[in-house]
Amino acid sequence: MPNKQIQSRASPEIFGEPVAGGGLLNRRVFLAGGALLASTAAARDARADSNSVGDDSPFSMTTPGKVFQGYGVPAVPEKPIQRTVLQPYGDLGPGAGVAMTPLESLEGTITPNGLHFERSHNGRPTIDPEAHRFLIHGLVKRPLKFTIESLLRYPMMTRTCFIECAGNSFFNSNLFPEPMQVPVGMIHGLVSGAEWTGVPLNILLDEAGLDSKGKWILAEGADAAGMSRSVPIEKALDDAIIAFYQNGERLRGEQGYPMRLLLPGFEGNMSVKWLRRIKVTAGPTYTKDETSKYSDLMPDGTARLFTFTMGIKSTITRPATGVVMYGPGLYEISGLAWSGHGSVTRVDVSADGGKSWAEAALGEPILPMALTRFRIPWRWDGTPTILQSRATDDKGNTQLRRAVWSAQYAAGELYHCNAIQTWGIGRNGEVSNVYI
Ligand code: CO
Repeated sequence: MPNKQIQSRASPEIFGEPVAGGGLLNRRVFLAGGALLASTAAARDARADSNSVGDDSPFSMTTPGKVFQGYGVPAVPEKPIQRTVLQPYGDLGPGAGVAMTPLESLEGTITPNGLHFERSHNGRPTIDPEAHRFLIHGLVKRPLKFTIESLLRYPMMTRTCFIECAGNSFFNSNLFPEPMQVPVGMIHGLVSGAEWTGVPLNILLDEAGLDSKGKWILAEGADAAGMSRSVPIEKALDDAIIAFYQNGERLRGEQGYPMRLLLPGFEGNMSVKWLRRIKVTAGPTYTKDETSKYSDLMPDGTARLFTFTMGIKSTITRPATGVVMYGPGLYEISGLAWSGHGSVTRVDVSADGGKSWAEAALGEPILPMALTRFRIPWRWDGTPTILQSRATDDKGNTQLRRAVWSAQYAAGELYHCNAIQTWGIGRNGEVSNVYI
């Protein structure tokens, strides 16, 4: 388990008086006061910079460094930061499961490619890009078959967005009557953020010529699960991309190499990896992947199908489970917020279990259907504290308390959990997952 330490900061006077219960401080330090923080630190470091290189210099300054490498890797002390792998079927299906992003160890809004979460239903296929073909057929005037090389000649676009598994945060859902004490990355780490580049799907559908009866598409992967989902044609024509690049490099094998569908804001497995065909259909296909899974259990015993959009959500990632605090003092509360409906407009943070809230600062740029970083300074007095975050988006959606979210579904519902996450800070600085 990652066990990252965070230290309290000095110079409390610049933060002023608390703006809400539990010691939350004004977010203005992240909006306009940044220069003040920087100048304080610079003044303190000036004396150290005046020393010249000599016998007492560190080893790194007196010995040449390591040579170049063709592909960079993380610094040695950071190598223990890994995805958490869960294989619920064990040896019966080692390729069915997830590798979760270690949110407690990351900052900013872009997930490194090697730590982007992975969900596979029957392993990561090995696909020869020379041999791979992509088919558009069904209710079209001209069925088309493409090579990768030919697709790479089409006009491309780049956009930054999150991908979130529909089952993300299942450890906070009503499947678990008691809160699981695992790092935040194991609770909410089936979401990651990346910059994706590829060909807009509507260009290819235009070339194939849609039949007016074509209202849905079936997207199918070339993996051993034949992962396939039905997508409304409106989404396919709106902002769907056939992605070839992730954060500037060609897709990793586990992210769908050589090509994947990307449906911003929709449940992650609809962004079908290892994409081999799109069939235009009159209605949904009711594939195994959208009937046996990815349906929502309702209180009346029915299962709701085709709930595509991932709701407004947020979580504090520091402090959070998997992070240890050392003593009372000033801290920065940092976290992520996102919405499949649009842009995050506001994140409120509570340090008194929801009795009072203070508005956090949001990191720019705030992009629709993308991870947004929020921050707020906090003076912890060392007493037991309940921390929460609550995000709101530009369509007016906001997060519900866990009990209110849970009451919408039958017991055992594990998809689309976007309830407020609660962290308990103990007197010893330990952080726990709490239900309130
Ligand atoms: Co759904």
